[in-house]
Amino acid sequence: MTREKPKNLWRSRWGFILAATGSAVGLGNIWKFPYITGEYGGGAFVLMYLACILAIGIPVMMTEIALGRRGRGSPIDAIGRVVRENGGNPLWKVVGGMGMLCGFLILSFYVVVAGWAFAYTWKMLDGSLAATSVEALGGVFEAHNADPWQLGGWSVLVALLTLWIVAKGVQQGVERSVRWMMPGLAVMLLALVGYALSSGSFRAGFDFLFHFDASKITGEALLAALGHAFFTLSLASGAILTYGSYIPDGQSIARTAFLVAICDTCVALLAGLAIFPIIFANGMNPSAGPGLIFISLPLAFQQMPFGTAFGVLFFAMVSIAALTSAIGMIEATVAYLNEKHGISRFKGAVASGSVLLVISLLAMLSFNLMSDWTPLGKNFFDWLDYLTSRWMMPLGGIFMAILAGYVLRSEIMRDELGLAPGGYALWLLMVRYVSPVLILMVFLHALGWLLFDPVMQWHWVLSFIMALAGLGEMKRARVRQVFLSR
Ligand code: TRP
Repeated sequence: MTREKPKNLWRSRWGFILAATGSAVGLGNIWKFPYITGEYGGGAFVLMYLACILAIGIPVMMTEIALGRRGRGSPIDAIGRVVRENGGNPLWKVVGGMGMLCGFLILSFYVVVAGWAFAYTWKMLDGSLAATSVEALGGVFEAHNADPWQLGGWSVLVALLTLWIVAKGVQQGVERSVRWMMPGLAVMLLALVGYALSSGSFRAGFDFLFHFDASKITGEALLAALGHAFFTLSLASGAILTYGSYIPDGQSIARTAFLVAICDTCVALLAGLAIFPIIFANGMNPSAGPGLIFISLPLAFQQMPFGTAFGVLFFAMVSIAALTSAIGMIEATVAYLNEKHGISRFKGAVASGSVLLVISLLAMLSFNLMSDWTPLGKNFFDWLDYLTSRWMMPLGGIFMAILAGYVLRSEIMRDELGLAPGGYALWLLMVRYVSPVLILMVFLHALGWLLFDPVMQWHWVLSFIMALAGLGEMKRARVRQVFLSR
């Protein structure tokens, strides 16, 4: 069977790396990671998070890139083609469709949060944040959200900017914009870390992030770490698979995936090192949650020398990080409309943008006019977050791991990944045993089953048996490979 010719390709090796890192580095790194690290106990959580990135994040990312490149297309088509090559069930395309939908739904509430960052860059400049107490700044944040026009205006601005870049195409839009935005982001981040170093509380921030306390290793924290690993690497939401379909043959998938994951992790850690010292230097609470960067941080900037300048720099950085992520969320949909239905990227962006605006409107209104509408205890914004992060991403991840680990003939992935026998065996171990078992635990947990309940100890027994089976498999795969390569 002849392989599909790629329609679009990155112009350089850095195209994918910058675009995928752009999608990975976002509000998840700068806002969520520092905050949940604080909540789950600093160093111990960081360690579990790193383990999840290594054991599950990177193998699943490699799988997604390989599926995208092998099938050369947007998620539905790419998976469809790979499965057809394998002679399997076309129903697997649903996994691609779900990923695409997931990215789209994430974007519809992400534009609201990204809108906050854009608005705060502006507010930092025009003096509306010149208040001197947490209460007053909390009031500014609340007033911003209570006003549908303000909140909506900034969100729509982010949405339009995103659609405009995506409409311009893979090379002229996405690649061209991430090419200057990502280095810009790195420079801003380093400047902010430098500023934090001069704040006098760098040590406290550092200890907060890296102090290891073994008693903080709990099932709950492990699950949070796993969920965040998926979110922060943009897995199972269409972006990595679609971006992967533009990678030229011959570029190493493993090396690329590692590089993206390392960059993403470094940004998360550096963001923590930039934020916490500033928070501590001003005697504030590190676990303030959503308000951390929008309430505590502006106050800290008010109190520090050159605070306004660095505040603007900070929010501009968050805005850029959010924008490059937003681009990744809609790319799969626009690529799908273009490849499958021949709709130009511009028209596709307009069409998907219209639907997007309707859904995001509901997300915006859930902060003001519709805040009383809370079916099953969650407002619309929280529902979007819950459905995508707790269900769609892990589900997509587990299905992709099963597809690549069990369903596809081993030549397909081996050929596409192009790994040495040992590396291939390790990847196989992860996608066959480690990822499915861990992700399954997330689901059981979501259903309200306690991990450390004595009755549920079989969980751990099961994982242990699976891990042993995995090691056996790894050994066999290795023997087979050595044999085959002779
Ligand atoms: N990784 C992004 C962040 O950390 C969020 C994200 C999740 C994402 N899924 C995505 C970004 C899909 C782009 C595409 O903020």
